[in-house]
Formats: sequence, C-alpha cells, structure tokens
Amino acid sequence: MKVLVTGATGFTGGWLARHLVRTGDEVRVLVRPGSGDGEPVDGLVQAGIDLASGDLRDVASLETACQGVEIVYHIAASYRTAGQPASSYREVNIEGTRRLLEAATGCGVRRFVHCSTGGVHGHIEHPPATEDAPLAPGDIYQDTKLEGERVARAVGEAGGIEVVVARPIGIYGPGDTRFLKLFRLASGRVMLGAGTVFYHLTFVEDLVEGFRLCGTVPAAAGRTYLLAGRRYTTLRELVALVASELGTRPPRLTIPVWPVWLAGALCELVCVPLRVEPPLYRRRVEFFTKSRAFDASRAGRELGFAPRVELTEGIHRTAVWYRQQGLL
Ligand SMILES: NC(=O)c1ccc[n+]([C@@H]2O[C@H](COP(=O)([O-])OP(=O)(O)OC[C@H]3O[C@@H](n4cnc5c(N)ncnc54)[C@H](OP(=O)(O)O)[C@@H]3O)[C@@H](O)[C@H]2O)c1
Repeated sequence: MKVLVTGATGFTGGWLARHLVRTGDEVRVLVRPGSGDGEPVDGLVQAGIDLASGDLRDVASLETACQGVEIVYHIAASYRTAGQPASSYREVNIEGTRRLLEAATGCGVRRFVHCSTGGVHGHIEHPPATEDAPLAPGDIYQDTKLEGERVARAVGEAGGIEVVVARPIGIYGPGDTRFLKLFRLASGRVMLGAGTVFYHLTFVEDLVEGFRLCGTVPAAAGRTYLLAGRRYTTLRELVALVASELGTRPPRLTIPVWPVWLAGALCELVCVPLRVEPPLYRRRVEFFTKSRAFDASRAGRELGFAPRVELTEGIHRTAVWYRQQGLL
C-alpha cells in the first residue's frame, strides 16, 4: 500500500515510517524544507522512504504529498517547543490537520489515521481511563490536540474518507530525549512531590504497530483508540525501576511541587511573549502532579493491539540508547 506519514523527522513518525516499510508498505513522508540538520532525513532516505517536501501550513504541498496515497498517518504536531504563542499551536495542530484532511479527501485517500494524545483527558480522577473518560485538556497543546481530533472526526463523519483517532500515552524508547529527565531524576537526590500519581508509558515499537492496525483494520473506521503500554505504575515505582536499571538509589528527599509550578508559570509569562523557550514550564511540572493511567482494552479487542515490550525491558532498551548517545 502507498502511505503518507507526517512527522517522520520526529521521534514517533520516524519509527512509524520505518515500521511501515518493514511491514511492506510503500512509504512517503512529508518533510519540511530545511527540517532537522539533514540527519533524520538522510536516515529516512537510506530506509527506502520517499520524501515529499511540504509543511502543514502550505496547502499546495499537502495536495502533492497526498497524490496516489491510500492511507495517511498524521503524526506531526507542534509539541516539544514550549516558547510558542498559542496561535502557533492552533496553526499546526488544528488548521494544519484541517488542511491535510482536505488535501487527503480531495486526492481520494481512503483512510486517515489521526494521532491525538491521551493528554486530552487531563488528570485521571478514576484510573484507569477509557476512551469515554471526561475530556479535560490542561494547556494550549492539549487544547489544540483535542480540537484537532474533533476536526478529524467531523470530516470523517461527513463521509468521503475514513478517520481513525489514536490517542497515544507517554511514548518512550530509543530516539526520544523527553524522558531523559526522568532518567536523570532517578539518579538524583530529590523528588518533586510524593510520587503517588500514576504514570503510564508506551514503548514506541509497540505504539507504531498500534498505528498500523488503526490504518489497516477495516472495523476501525470512525473509532477512537487509546494506545498504551501493558501496565502503569506510580511515579515513585517508575523512578525506582529506572534507578534499578541505572544501578543507582532512587531519590530520598522530597520537595513540594507548588512553588516549582508557580515558578514555571512565571517563566512562561516572561518567556512566551518574547518567543523564548522557558527554562521551566507548567506542563513539565504537572508531570509530577497529574495522574495518567489508561485502559487500552478497546484497541486490544477491536484491533488486536497487544503491546509486547514490558516496562523493565523498555526502560533497559532506552537506557542502552541513552548510553550509546553519551546522554547518561
Ligand atoms: N511523545 C509523547 O509522549 C506523545 C504522547 C502522546 C501523543 N503524542 C503525539 O505524538 C505525535 C508525535 O510526537 P513526537 O514526540 O514524536 O513529536 P516530535 O518528535 O516533536 O515530532 C514532531 C514532528 O512534527 C513535525 N512538524 C511540526 N510542525 C510541522 C509543520 N508545520 N509541518 C509539517 N511537519 C511539522 C516535525 O517536523 P520538524 O522535524 O521539521 O520539526 C516533526 O517531524 C504528536 O502528534 C504528539 O502530539 C506524543
């Protein structure tokens, strides 16, 4: 099958594009002109992936990229950069999604797999949350991800293209540096908060198979799926697992979260109008206060989604990669 993947110069999209090549698809990826420093792009070419130059802000480039494609996996998002105005998130996560859907529909694409986030559920009051749990996005990124999935669902309901919404949870694995902070925390002395909140991780290799199932299982059309790892733990248990992998002792000192949260809010207040990445921001601190625990059994029943990589194994494989990169 000929498929288009967006976000392939990023962590998850890159894994997905390679996975789809291995499982037999003809893969094209949307790459922004000048994206990365050439290294992610070179790796994609070496993997036999076709490049389409384009941007979610540029309709014409999306129409070209969608030509002849059967399935679009829309993974790209404005996500990791915190020092952006709200309008930048809207432009990519909502309007970019709308443009890509219009281009895909116009080109006769059969199915559109839209990558959202479990973050649209916000803090999970009653764990584990299913797809029907209350929606409570807590920041501009999560707000725009929720609006993006609403746009996608509405286009699917209008007919003309099948839409599947996937909500991944805490993606980690080789290639990601977001969870490096957790690894550094686990070998430090101080923990923020009591660590009694739940945290749920999904190993990227399992996740990308979940995306492939969203793209290929006929009955998935029109459905929404949480894609999560096999188990969740408290944050303190997770830190202890990472510390055990690193051969260190988990932090024993605990400091209260709220002064740090306020400092994060203050940093955002000063940095965002100046378009400077804040050194600390609320979403980062909320990692220690929001509970995230999910029930992915719908994806198991309807798609056959069956994550294989156990948490300790995933942590080990991630640590190996961090060491290889000289990050630990
Ligand atoms: N990481 C997690 O734990 C997590 C959890 C739940 C959901 N998600 C969702 O999973 C997806 C992938 O996350 P990730 O962590 O892999 O992200 P990532 O590494 O930050 O990659 C983001 C990708 O989006 C592309 N992109 C951004 N703006 C674009 C634009 N205007 N036009 C075209 N491409 C654009 C980036 O291209 P450049 O290389 O050119 O910047 C990059 O390839 C996102 O939709 C995110 O919301 C992530």
